[in-house]
Amino acid sequence: MPKITKAVFPVAGMGTRFLPATKASPKEMMPIVDKPLIQYAVEEAIAAGITEMIFITGRNKRAIEDHFDKAYEMETELEARGRHETLRVLRSILPKNISCIYIRQSEALGLGHAVLCARPAVGNEPFAVLLADDLLAGDEPIMQQMAGVYEQNGCSILAVQNVEPADTVNYGIVKCGPGMNRLHPITGIVEKPQPEKAPSTLGVVGRYILTPKIFSHLERIEPGAGGEIQLTDGIASLLQEERALAYEFSGIRYDCGTKIGYLKATIALGLAHPEVGREFAEYLDTYGHRNPSA
Ligand code: UTP
Repeated sequence: MPKITKAVFPVAGMGTRFLPATKASPKEMMPIVDKPLIQYAVEEAIAAGITEMIFITGRNKRAIEDHFDKAYEMETELEARGRHETLRVLRSILPKNISCIYIRQSEALGLGHAVLCARPAVGNEPFAVLLADDLLAGDEPIMQQMAGVYEQNGCSILAVQNVEPADTVNYGIVKCGPGMNRLHPITGIVEKPQPEKAPSTLGVVGRYILTPKIFSHLERIEPGAGGEIQLTDGIASLLQEERALAYEFSGIRYDCGTKIGYLKATIALGLAHPEVGREFAEYLDTYGHRNPSA
């Protein structure tokens, strides 16, 4: 089984749900405590043994490129001032063995189209896709769990979680045959179905391992829900040719593409933060007392 060494990060969406914050900088650069969302996703990919990061960027690409680029002037300045710990934090953003490629998606035509843009950089290998606005936390990083599942099965793997029946309209929903150990063979997939039409309550979250066959399907499909080229529709078409598995990952997902998910992630990761966690917990404990109307 070829090892997964490449990850695609589609970061070209418009991020309209976070306007005005996302007017001039991508949603994926919004920080949770002190790290932008995209860095959490890149760290998850690195933990899974991935070494090539492929970013599909849009009109606001500068900030992401700058974030993963070496900051010579800042490093020189910090060195001169003897700020060694700060320098270490700055240098640890991207380990030396990791390379980054940036591909421009000229128009936000949909997630499926964004993934198709990665084809020249991915070539004929299986690859990971990580949507940075889904922040996933688990004892074992989620993409690492999925790479293990891929090594055992050698087919496309989709991370899924059980969602509220009323929420199926917000997800790609899979139809599955009988499975075991959190793994289910996918027999169908549909984008944002109404609850009464949903084939299950297993919703796809923003982590995928895909075989390169997906590209020829993405090339052929027509725009679907919302007039966009949907990755879900590409996967539905792929299923006619190859098997794929839904994997109920072990961990928690914060949907940081929504304001409430973003706030929940900030609280969870703020409380777990080694520098400010304890003080933040004390603050939250007394917040209700100090603000009785809250
Ligand atoms: P979303 O559905 O969250 O869309 O995209 P969005 O534009 O980012 O946000 P809203 O809905 O307007 O608030 C899911 C992921 O797919 C990427 C986004 O960057 C996000 O990571 N995407 C989406 C692209 O890269 N290109 C596209 O054409 C569409």
